[in-house]
Amino acid sequence: MRFDVLTLFPGMFTGPLSESILKRAIQAGCIAVVLHDIRAYATDRHRTTDDAPYGGGAGMVMKPEPLAACIRAVLAMNGGGETGHNSPVILLTPDGEPFTQRIAAELATYPRLVLVCGRYEGVDERVREALITRELSIGDYVLTGGELAAMVVIDAVARLVPGVIDSESTAEESFSDGLLEYPQYTRPAVWEGRAVPPVLVSGHHGEVAQWRRRERLRRTFERRPDLLVRAALTDADRAYLRTLGWSDPGNGGTGREHRSPVE
Ligand SMILES: C[S@@+](CC[C@H](N)C(=O)[O-])C[C@H]1O[C@@H](n2cnc3c(N)ncnc32)[C@H](O)[C@@H]1O
Repeated sequence: MRFDVLTLFPGMFTGPLSESILKRAIQAGCIAVVLHDIRAYATDRHRTTDDAPYGGGAGMVMKPEPLAACIRAVLAMNGGGETGHNSPVILLTPDGEPFTQRIAAELATYPRLVLVCGRYEGVDERVREALITRELSIGDYVLTGGELAAMVVIDAVARLVPGVIDSESTAEESFSDGLLEYPQYTRPAVWEGRAVPPVLVSGHHGEVAQWRRRERLRRTFERRPDLLVRAALTDADRAYLRTLGWSDPGNGGTGREHRSPVE
């Protein structure tokens, strides 16, 4: 899978891409990250990429011409045997659709993604209308630029690309099926007086599986009851959740009638 990243600060990507899993994924050819310096598409002597906002006000706005030229050039490039013309062109922006694990899984099915990093007060609206096909936010806060947001998207998507990590690792983790993950433990069996739950050292695979499922349900109910509304639940899951005080939305409730223990 190929990520084309359009940025005014390509140097920001060096660290995250040269360590650990992303580094290995690049070396193994599972993913490629191609950085494009938007400034290289500015045509004036000073290579200007921003200008004052029409209507006045604080800050600067990314000029349409260099960014549009950069996007068009990248879409015309041949990457991995195909051009980017059918690839999503994604702007990272705080007013975009909230980025989730579901969207990460969807994006991991594309051979190529184009990620556009904003700076200053953002991107001229006409470029968004003309060339951007999707807009994503990584959370309800404002960053100085889209680079960290693009890295978050690359990291979350890349680990779902076949071959990057063991697919068993992603099967039961948080959000994969609408539930949070169960608590994890490793050796020693007792640490500073705290013992590992006995079931985990019992050797009973069925009981371990049931404990883990219930811990996922309990943790999701306590921390993110909103997720349960869309989670894939069995009758046994629902019965267990009801013992915790959950009210089943399928029975006319919303699942939120009871305050969760952490509220
Ligand atoms: C300072 S921000 C612009 C904020 C913009 N004026 C606003 O109020 O929505 C500059 C750039 O950082 C990126 N950015 C900031 N916060 C983000 C977030 N939560 N998710 C994704 N991108 C973000 C976007 O690319 C944005 O164009």
